[in-house]
Amino acid sequence: MNIAVFASGRGTNLQAIIDAVNRGEIKAVISLVISDRSDAKALDRAKKAGIETAYINPRDFSSREEFDKQAINYLEKNNVGLVVLAGFMRLLSPYFVNRYRNRIMNIHPSLLPAFKGTSGIKDAWKYGVKITGPTVHFINEDLDAGPIILQKPVMIDQSDTLESLEEKIHRAEHQIYPEAVKLFVEGRLSVEGRMVKIRG
Ligand code: GRF
Repeated sequence: MNIAVFASGRGTNLQAIIDAVNRGEIKAVISLVISDRSDAKALDRAKKAGIETAYINPRDFSSREEFDKQAINYLEKNNVGLVVLAGFMRLLSPYFVNRYRNRIMNIHPSLLPAFKGTSGIKDAWKYGVKITGPTVHFINEDLDAGPIILQKPVMIDQSDTLESLEEKIHRAEHQIYPEAVKLFVEGRLSVEGRMVKIRG
């Protein structure tokens, strides 16, 4: 199976998935990394790993859907079976979501449905929760709302700071995201309504 990763930033989750592929844990090929930012560190990581990259400049397109159609051109050319969003800071259009339904994953840094949005770690920290952690989910039309694949609890200790919590959450992300991709590639995930069933 061919995988495409969409990333706008540092790409540490991309790196964790590249590493899992290289270790032979995920039996698939990352054939493409797409970014909406030319300066994304994720693009450097992809190039270093010998993966094709594409920078798509949002300013070149009149609408979200037009941008997404350009991304779909790349996906079709590469015969992509799974789209992995890893710190991709754009909403996908309903057109894209529908086209790749239950074949687009995202990682969010809080235990959904709590603390949706772009500052999931900080919001949980400020709220004072004692347990938080990342969620891997399929994408649907609503923000951070698709069927949940995996979650990993992270305890917030008295001694934690926002920075140490961020580190813990990223460590947890780097465990569950490759795991979720592996489950998908092995055909072990099925979606029934909001429920994601994991076989085996
Ligand atoms: C992660 O914290 C993820 O939960 C969120 O964006 C961040 C991406 O980090 N969606 P990186 O670019 O993979 O390092």
